[in-house]
Amino acid sequence: MRVTMIGAGYVGLVSGACFADFGHQVTCIDKDAAKVAALKRGEIPIFEPGLADLVEANMRQGRLEFAGDTSGIGEAEAVFIAVGTPSRRGDGHADLTFVYEAVREIAPLLSAEAVVVTKSTVPVGTGDEIEHILRDKRSDAEIQVVSNPEFLREGAAIQDFKHPDRIVVGTDDPRARNVLAEIYRPLYLNTPPLVYVSRRTAELIKYAANAFLATKITFINEIADLCEEVGADVQEVARGMGLDNRIGGKFLHAGPGFGGSCFPKDTSALLKTAQDHGVAMRIVEAVTVVNDQRKRAMARKVVAALDGSVRGKTVAVLGLTFKPNTDDTRDSPAIPLITALTDLGAKVRGYDPAGMEQAKPLLPTVAYCDNAYSAAEGADAVVIATEWEQFRALDLQRLKKIMARPVIVDLRNIYRPDEMKRAGFRYAAIGRAGVD
Ligand code: UGA
Repeated sequence: MRVTMIGAGYVGLVSGACFADFGHQVTCIDKDAAKVAALKRGEIPIFEPGLADLVEANMRQGRLEFAGDTSGIGEAEAVFIAVGTPSRRGDGHADLTFVYEAVREIAPLLSAEAVVVTKSTVPVGTGDEIEHILRDKRSDAEIQVVSNPEFLREGAAIQDFKHPDRIVVGTDDPRARNVLAEIYRPLYLNTPPLVYVSRRTAELIKYAANAFLATKITFINEIADLCEEVGADVQEVARGMGLDNRIGGKFLHAGPGFGGSCFPKDTSALLKTAQDHGVAMRIVEAVTVVNDQRKRAMARKVVAALDGSVRGKTVAVLGLTFKPNTDDTRDSPAIPLITALTDLGAKVRGYDPAGMEQAKPLLPTVAYCDNAYSAAEGADAVVIATEWEQFRALDLQRLKKIMARPVIVDLRNIYRPDEMKRAGFRYAAIGRAGVD
């Protein structure tokens, strides 16, 4: 099958490379000429484990190519729109400028039977609008518009793409359903977990899924706060809850609040859609407010661990990205945390295995270091903000020797209080007893 991806960003690149790996003939188109030139040289603009090898192998075998313009699009049987839908400045609505621009541009060039598929996360009704644009410009054609949202996690995107829990296909048109089934067929020997729904339903499934996961995280974060007050352990509470199949254990890991390019943006866009339709969504509303406040409030944990003040003290923050295995710092909890610490008079040293270049413009006052130990040199406290694997087995004795004081604030609960006690650290964690 001939497939074109519009947008060689995160979603477009991962999906395009995976479709090519299934055996389809894929072209990824991007307006950014420098990005296309780099991709043609085999340079990958994003950090995603396994992606560079996948792109390289499929380019070599002639199934994946990159282009800076849409001139070849007439040959594509399916055209996926995977351009960005950032939060619109000022009102939190999803900004659909890039989506509609792309549709207007490709409309005259598409084959009369093409299937246009939105992979970008778009609010309910966007597919209808795309259909209007296409009908307006191509009254001759039988072009179908399908919603096929992605559920990839950064850092695990290829695994998620190749082993999805479900593939949502939003269209009532039988021909378009068959095209999508054919595209995903190589994934399965047996029946693929395709969920056929209407286009509007598919668009909402994406937002509902992300809002629900964000709610799960926020729920366990509030339970963690209560655990700290009543002397319970949130890890054990989460396990005890999660073993109930109706609840499930995933996304119950308490931490400094969720970040990234999806949950914050999608929860706020869902709220806007609900408001526009006169529907109250108090739970999602509370989730966004609680999560925003939580990130900055993490600084209070550091203040408490340093006897009530960080003024003039040095704090080393390990992990600047919103989660491990990515270089993405968008809405990372580390940012409000560090801003708050700086506002309170602390000197902050920082280290991240992949996200320092992204962090620098957002956090210009941080002293960036080469590794966890150089960041901890002379620090009054080390704060673990992201659970990168290399922070999970730090040499505690070495840390203790180089730090000004043996204080660790573990916002991801990657250490155990008893080992910290043995190593002679003051230790604060999330939702469970620390060591004083
Ligand atoms: C999320 C969804 O998991 C994907 O299914 C979805 O496709 C994607 O958004 C998207 O809409 O594009 P992602 O943002 O890459 O993926 O990252 P997650 O692994 O979901 O983590 C999001 C945030 O929640 C991170 O800050 C993470 O640290 C936090 N989190 C996650 C927790 O605090 N606790 C948990 O138990 C899980």
